Amino acid sequence: MSKEVLKGSAMLNPVPVVLVTSKNKDNKVNVFTVGWIGTAATRPPMITVAIRKERLSYDYIKSTGEFVVNLPSKDMTKIVDFCGVRSGRDVDKIEKFNLELSPSEKISVPIIDACPIALECKVKSIIPLGSHDLFLAEILSVHVDKALIDAKGKIHYEKANLINYCHGEYYPMNQKSIGKFGFSVQKKKKTKK
Ligand SMILES: Cc1cc2nc3c(=O)[nH]c(=O)nc-3n(C[C@H](O)[C@H](O)[C@H](O)COP(=O)(O)O)c2cc1C
Repeated sequence: MSKEVLKGSAMLNPVPVVLVTSKNKDNKVNVFTVGWIGTAATRPPMITVAIRKERLSYDYIKSTGEFVVNLPSKDMTKIVDFCGVRSGRDVDKIEKFNLELSPSEKISVPIIDACPIALECKVKSIIPLGSHDLFLAEILSVHVDKALIDAKGKIHYEKANLINYCHGEYYPMNQKSIGKFGFSVQKKKKTKK
């Protein structure tokens, strides 16, 4: 494989793309699109979100220390894009798309009903990095559409029609798994003769 070497840039792709809700001290709720997001720890469950200071959401999240990560499905792609190119300073995005909201369990920021999965997050620290500040937050509660949970309690993310963002384009998540965690080392079950 012959490779071109390019200068260092934010080229990690694909990434999940999410809708982050937040609110200000006057209870005004805003939503914006985030691609620079990642899981940081399991215990306690921690997540990172990189946010530019210019975003209205930056001010909201910094003032309350709370936000919700809502995982949108592919029928929400237009909303996802719009919420990533228009600021809550100029348009009420919740109102524009008639987004229904429900209260969170542990924080005061609401979740978006139409998103099948939502993570309630509480900010633990903010690390200035340059273009973005990195918000490190603990996930206090997770909301999952009951239709995704089977009789054994397994959550079928593949049925949530989630979307990815890859180098400027949105893609639907493929529903067909190409391998299960640990399958590469799993011993084959002996079949009874
Ligand atoms: C696919 C996509 C991913 C984005 N990811 C981020 C991100 O990780 N961090 C960020 O600060 N802005 C990100 N943005 C830009 C903001 O969502 C955008 O500037 C938005 O209008 C800010 O809204 P607000 O001012 O209402 O907070 C992204 C935009 C798109 C379309």
